[in-house]
Amino acid sequence: MGKRIGIVTGGGDCPGLNAVIRAVAKSAWRRGWETIGIVGGYEGLLAPQCTRPLAYQELDGLLVRGGTILGTANRGRFSAKVGHGEMRQLPRELLEETRRGFDSLGLDALVTVGGDGSLTIAQQFHEFGLPVVGVPKTIDNDVGGTVVTFGFDSAVHCATEALDRLHSTAESHQRIMVLEVMGRYAGWIAIYAGIAGGADVILIPEIPYRLDSVIGKIRDREQQGKHYTMIVVAEGARPENGDFVTAAGAQANRETRLGGIGASLAAQLEQATGKEARSVVLGHLQRGGSPTNMDRTLCTMFGAKAVELIAEQAFGQMVAFTGTHIVGVPLRDAIGTLRTVPRDGAYVWTARSLGICLGDH
Ligand code: F6P
Repeated sequence: MGKRIGIVTGGGDCPGLNAVIRAVAKSAWRRGWETIGIVGGYEGLLAPQCTRPLAYQELDGLLVRGGTILGTANRGRFSAKVGHGEMRQLPRELLEETRRGFDSLGLDALVTVGGDGSLTIAQQFHEFGLPVVGVPKTIDNDVGGTVVTFGFDSAVHCATEALDRLHSTAESHQRIMVLEVMGRYAGWIAIYAGIAGGADVILIPEIPYRLDSVIGKIRDREQQGKHYTMIVVAEGARPENGDFVTAAGAQANRETRLGGIGASLAAQLEQATGKEARSVVLGHLQRGGSPTNMDRTLCTMFGAKAVELIAEQAFGQMVAFTGTHIVGVPLRDAIGTLRTVPRDGAYVWTARSLGICLGDH
């Protein structure tokens, strides 16, 4: 019998959200099912409901389009995470209101596309008896249970291109250039882009850094006749015995906004070395625009698998990539694990082998 499924996008936007929407709606359509887009994040499920039909004819151009045509939110009543490890249980009345919305839309299942926070909410829906499946999204690449999340490759592409461009100024002006990239708890973007873009220093949240280690690297380079230094720093990197640099004060029901480590590091390095230093915050450029071909493919595989999980009634699952296969894993396992850059893994090892300074030696 034909089903009616809903799809909702939550958390920060990122390249590939529309590609997932397209893949879900197309795979559902092939089964003779109907897909309804929930507009404005989870709030769209509540009265007055906000929906958008996703008929086959509506899907043109979605594969390459940035952002999400359904809109999204990472604050408000549906905030389950305000920091890593800090889980907020949604109030029962809100879950009941959600169920009423769900029923009045006549949904047989809901596909939730989001990061750690949105998937944590999906797990709470599941425990409440709502039929949900999750799709892991985040440029930070830190969701457990999958070797990669979509949006990550597009962000790395953007950060690498920025490094390539900054190299010209660094070299021409013999400066220290600091590029601050996103990555709250995990330094995946920084380490991938840093290796791909030829950085001399990469600072990530997983490895607290010492300023004298970075200064030492700059001095070593000077001795080798290299009068410029390229540094990539994740927004969540912090000095040994220090804390994150935040851009704004704490706000209710949302994670603290990070930002500013690049500028503070550049100022410290300029003072310590006497060399001119500049910083650039890449910010939301990393989350905008068209997804890369890798992300388009991953999103399409994820969307198709989400529909298959619904057909199999495998609710409470998240689609995941193993490196060779797209599978379903329990949402509970995925949200319980933050996937960070392993200190003994291939990326750190490669960086060290090339003499890239990670701030700890
Ligand atoms: O979680 C993804 C992320 O890109 C983080 O790296 C960053 O801290 C956060 O989103 C920024 O979110 P906002 O756009 O709400 O400031």
